[in-house]
Amino acid sequence: MVERTFVMVKPDGVERGLVGEILTRFERRGLRIVAGKFLRVSRELAERHYAEHREKPFFEDLVSFITSGPVFAFVLEGEDAIRVVREMMGRTNPRDAAPGTIRGDYALSIEKNLVHGSDSRESAEREIALWFRPEEIVDYRRAVDAWI
Ligand code: PPS
Repeated sequence: MVERTFVMVKPDGVERGLVGEILTRFERRGLRIVAGKFLRVSRELAERHYAEHREKPFFEDLVSFITSGPVFAFVLEGEDAIRVVREMMGRTNPRDAAPGTIRGDYALSIEKNLVHGSDSRESAEREIALWFRPEEIVDYRRAVDAWI
């Protein structure tokens, strides 16, 4: 099943110069980049993005971290993209993340865990619509998509 998922390199990933590395891992796996933008996140966008965590004790930290510096937000497309991206990211707490995953290879902090990826079909749809206008998403297929 071909799916689209929303992914973001968080401010710590930008700060550490890991945007290219993270994007490359997804590209090499075979996922297609169909949208991307580099931006500073407003408080309003951050609060809407993390709305489901509004009651959590770490909500304020989450919002202030994600607005603390620029992020690279993008949309990936491919077979089972939502699950594949989550697996490549590794467990939320990088100290539990397996080696070979992005967090397992590059992070130790639960807050500064480098990358966000949609956790379900519903989140992916909501997050893509929140971060991108329809005309910013490019619909295309590569020859390699027939078999990769
Ligand atoms: S939960 O409670 O299971 O719903 O939370 P989870 O889905 O694991 O995490 C939601 C996002 O919150 C971040 N997070 C935290 N930030 C700061 N401090 C603490 N303690 C903390 N715990 C979780 C976590 O990285 C998730 O961010 P995203 O951007 O969705 O990956």
